[in-house]
Amino acid sequence: MLTLNTDQLSTQEIQQYLQYAIAPRPICFASTIDLEGNVNLSPFSFFNLFSMNPPICIFSPSRRVRDNTTKHTLENIKEVPECVINIVNYNMVQQVSLSSCDYPKGTSEFVKAGFTELASELVRPPRVAESPIQLECIVQEVIALGAQAGAGNLVLAEIKKIHLHESILDTSNHIDQAKLDLVARLGGDWYARITEENLFKVEKPNTKLGIGFDQLPIAIKESIVFTANEKAQLANTNIAPSSNTIKDLKLSSDNIQQIKAALSNNDTERAWAIIQTLV
Ligand SMILES: Cc1cc2nc3c(=O)[nH]c(=O)nc-3n(C[C@H](O)[C@H](O)[C@H](O)COP(=O)(O)O)c2cc1C
Repeated sequence: MLTLNTDQLSTQEIQQYLQYAIAPRPICFASTIDLEGNVNLSPFSFFNLFSMNPPICIFSPSRRVRDNTTKHTLENIKEVPECVINIVNYNMVQQVSLSSCDYPKGTSEFVKAGFTELASELVRPPRVAESPIQLECIVQEVIALGAQAGAGNLVLAEIKKIHLHESILDTSNHIDQAKLDLVARLGGDWYARITEENLFKVEKPNTKLGIGFDQLPIAIKESIVFTANEKAQLANTNIAPSSNTIKDLKLSSDNIQQIKAALSNNDTERAWAIIQTLV
C-alpha cells in the first residue's frame, strides 16, 4: 500500500491522485453573465447536489494552479449572482471541452463552442438549448476555500427552475436514466459515458434491518465461490435463518449455481428459497 501525506505533495501531485480517485464526477456546464451583459459558459466537475430542501447544488471554480488567477465564471457570479447549470450528455462532450479554453474575458463560449442560447425565464444568464436538463439558479453564497493557487470557491446555487427535454422523459414525465446518456469527468483526460449497457440496479437496503454477514450460513460466509457482493445481497434479508441452517448447510456445485443465478437477477428471495429447501 502506497501512503502519501498531502502536505508533502505539490498541488499538481494532489490533483493527479485525487481527480482519478474521486471520480466519476458529474459536470456542471455553467452559464453566467457580467454587469455589462457579457455571457460566459464553462464546465466544472467539482460539482454535486447537496440539499433537496432548499434544492442546492455546489460547484467550484478554483483559482488557477498555473498563476493563481480567478475564473471568469467566479467574477461574473460576484457581479450577478445567478447562473444556469446545464447538464452535459454525450452529444455535447467535445464542445464542452472546447468551451473550457481560456478565452479572453467578454468572449462568449456559446459562440466559440457552437452552442445555442435559449433565454431563461427567471435569471439573466441564458440556457444551453442543446442540454437535456437546464437548471435556473440563484447563487446564495460564495465560499472561498483559500487565497492560494488551486484553492476552490464554493458556489452555492439554489435551483429555482428545472427545464427537462421531452426526449429524456418516460410516460410519467420522470427522467429515464438510460435515455439521458450522461457523461462524467474522471482523472486526466478520462471521461465516462453512462449508457444502458453499463447501468445496473442495487436494491435499496431493507427498511427492516438486514440480518448481516454474521447471520449467514457458515457454508456461504466462508465460501470462496460467493463474491462479497453476493454475500451482501444474502445478508440484506430480514428473515434470520435457523441456527441449523447457519451451522449445517451443505451446498453442491449445482445449488451454488442456482443461488448465484437468482442473485444475478437481483432475486434475493428466490436465493433464500433455494437455501431453505436444502436443510
Ligand atoms: C469537463 C471539465 C471539467 C472542469 N472542471 C473544473 C472545475 O471543477 N473547477 C475548475 O476550476 N475548472 C474546471 N475545469 C476547467 C474550466 O472549465 C476552465 O478553466 C474554464 O475555462 C474556466 O472558464 P472561465 O474563466 O471562463 O470561467 C474543467 C474543465 C473541463 C473540460
